[in-house]
Amino acid sequence: MTLSRSHSLQPRNVKFDWRHTPQPWLPDDPFTAHFINVLHLLLPEGELWFCRLYNQALPDIADENLRADVKGFVRQEAIHSRSHQVVLDQYFANSGIVTAPFTQRVRWLFTEVLGDQPFGIAPGWQWLARAWLTFRLGLIAAIEHFTCVIGRWILECKGLDDAGADPVMMDLLRWHGAEEVEHRNVAHDLFEARGGGYFYRVGLMLLTGPVLILLWWLGTHFFLRQQVPANARWRFWREWRRAARQDRLPTFSFLLASVWRYLRPGYHPQDEADTETALDYLQRSPAALRATAR
Ligand SMILES: [Fe+2]
Ligand SMILES: [Fe+2]
Repeated sequence: MTLSRSHSLQPRNVKFDWRHTPQPWLPDDPFTAHFINVLHLLLPEGELWFCRLYNQALPDIADENLRADVKGFVRQEAIHSRSHQVVLDQYFANSGIVTAPFTQRVRWLFTEVLGDQPFGIAPGWQWLARAWLTFRLGLIAAIEHFTCVIGRWILECKGLDDAGADPVMMDLLRWHGAEEVEHRNVAHDLFEARGGGYFYRVGLMLLTGPVLILLWWLGTHFFLRQQVPANARWRFWREWRRAARQDRLPTFSFLLASVWRYLRPGYHPQDEADTETALDYLQRSPAALRATAR
């Protein structure tokens, strides 16, 4: 088991004012805005699911440092979930964009399919419930690999600012990305502490990566269908390449290279990003500064 190497994780009780954020929040580039907006569709339910599972796992954690990290992780993810929910309830609701048909399916995914009793089947045996929890904690570890590398990417990205992205949305994305970098070790360390080994980790990444791509494809089209003429909708890969060339999205090869690193036996998320860069942003994030002042 690799002990957690992260420092003490503290939640920042941020609030964002969405009244002045335009739709789309990236001028003349609805594709990129909606590609990133998929985060708001998935994270409110997804990160609450993280919190529920981590609270279930907590009594089994013997290592004091890991227990403290898991508690800090839960407090941070709960605020992430709430912050993206506010984007749905205020920003999208005021923009006239419908999100419920998608978010209802996301809720079904995280509460039914990935809930404690999938498809209404009671696990029955204690060992099965424990194994199902470990499986799902391994999925979270794979997802948290992506939140870390994308968090690092958004902290370093210049293209969105150059394209005139709304500063409130950028602050939400970078505050969240910075906290993902800050707590990047926790999910991996918890999965390993529960016996998640190398081949188990590899298998769960090979499942998680394609599912995330599918969810992004579906979510981006869900938004574009509401806003963009039909003949412009179906160029997902071409538009992604164009936006990545403009440094507005990470390239597919950047994500693929990160998966390749995840598949190596010696992988540890500690090596994927730099905590100082994240803390540096959190010390100047307008929302984090307001939270500190409160
Ligand atoms: Fe998060
Ligand atoms: Fe996270």
